[in-house]
Amino acid sequence: MYHEIDLKQIDINQEPPVEEPERQYYFMAKCREHVEALERKLGRRPCFFTQTFGCQMNARDSEKLTGILEQIGYQAADSEEADFVIYNTCTVRENANNKVWGRLGYLNTYKKQHPHMKIALCGCMMQEPEVIEKLKKSYRFVDLIFGTHNIYKFAELIALSFAQDRMVTDIWESTDQIVEDLPIERKYRFKSGVNIMFGCNNFCSYCIVPYVRGRERSRKPEDIVREVEALAADGVVEVMLLGQNVNSYGKNLETPVSFAELLERITQIEGIQRIRFMTSHPKDLSDELIDVMARCDKICRHLHLPLQSGSSRILKEMNRRYDKEQYLALVKNIRQAVPNIALTTDIIVGFPGETEEDFDETMDVVKQVGYDSAFTFIYSKRTGTPAAELKQQVPEEVVKDRFDRLLKEVQQGAAKRAQALTGRVEEVLVEEVNQQEEALVTGRLSNNFIVHFPGTNELIGKIVAVRLKECKGFYFYGEMA
Ligand code: 5AD
Ligand code: SF4
Repeated sequence: MYHEIDLKQIDINQEPPVEEPERQYYFMAKCREHVEALERKLGRRPCFFTQTFGCQMNARDSEKLTGILEQIGYQAADSEEADFVIYNTCTVRENANNKVWGRLGYLNTYKKQHPHMKIALCGCMMQEPEVIEKLKKSYRFVDLIFGTHNIYKFAELIALSFAQDRMVTDIWESTDQIVEDLPIERKYRFKSGVNIMFGCNNFCSYCIVPYVRGRERSRKPEDIVREVEALAADGVVEVMLLGQNVNSYGKNLETPVSFAELLERITQIEGIQRIRFMTSHPKDLSDELIDVMARCDKICRHLHLPLQSGSSRILKEMNRRYDKEQYLALVKNIRQAVPNIALTTDIIVGFPGETEEDFDETMDVVKQVGYDSAFTFIYSKRTGTPAAELKQQVPEEVVKDRFDRLLKEVQQGAAKRAQALTGRVEEVLVEEVNQQEEALVTGRLSNNFIVHFPGTNELIGKIVAVRLKECKGFYFYGEMA
């Protein structure tokens, strides 16, 4: 944790402060008193469990939830059979929602035997009015529900939930507030995500994110730099800058700053050896950014550049604001400037009205670019998005067949790219002891490929040179060089 707060200094008999983050510190102190009382009652330290669904943004948000839960006196548990369970939900595709409904049934059974248990839900799915209606009607055992805009209020909401025995809901439609300096508990001690902006203004026609995460808001560069400096001082060597569309970072700040400028400032922070970022929208990727990537070795040789579709016609329907040729030209520019860069992507199959010819265009881009890896998704209809109104949904079996063909192409292409690296010696950041084989450790190359090699847990967090001996498709076996 990089921000120490002394809760004992806070007088909880006073009125809560109005200013943030002091107001949340006050509620943390209040919650701690409650958790201490619970500890005396249970005769053991109460424990919590967070389950994260979805993207890197949610993973980072869960570190904030964890930071607060630890601050108020809970300790981490490794299963849902805990005293406080929170699901940080995702709603980008329908199956993400289904997982949550399924698991809630199980939690209800457990809670019946442990009535003091608290169940909380937050994240993107909670920003959908139909979800809240359904929870209020049929899931009354849930104690606390909040959304994406007020996660900083978690301590205050827990305090409210402790004080009353009925469902607490607090969902905001939007916010322009960014609260700094709340406790965060990192999952890894040597690497960390760092939010640089929140929300999205793009309104791709299939996507629910702009509705549930709100409009783009950038953090001030000095706040970001301060956070990264503190992380570096705490032993972090790799940061991942997070935003739905990092390429439009800083445009709406009082003093606008470009993403490339921010990136360059972060490369100057001592101790930070690797910088990643995610996600880039092709329409906003500037020459300035390509130039910074080419110049700064600390910026990882990896770019995630969502394609979504290779058909210019479908891209137009998706409101992506680039066409096939522009995307390919961009890839060419990047490869010319940064020859060893790994490119990864997101692709949606079965967008309404997608014909076989459209799909062929996607396959063509995949072949031409040669991605190092790709996330492939079956189009999922999201209520409230413009694409949900389109009539020509593609039949399921057609989508499935295209999806399988695409996946095969992606995997073959990626294996070929990986194969070409075999025999090389690369710098690797060691992340963990291998989960299957204890004699091995697992590390990540600058280009995001994974390698397993003999080593011990003392190597975790260190950058070492590793020879890539054997390619296994999308990962390697190696040995220290
Ligand atoms: N259906 C399928 N995939 C989607 N994505 C976003 N919305 C949808 C949807 N409705 C995918 C996009 C995006 C990634 C995070 O999720 O490919 O880049
Ligand atoms: Fe969704 Fe498009 Fe925004 Fe990405 S850029 S979050 S796909 S609307």
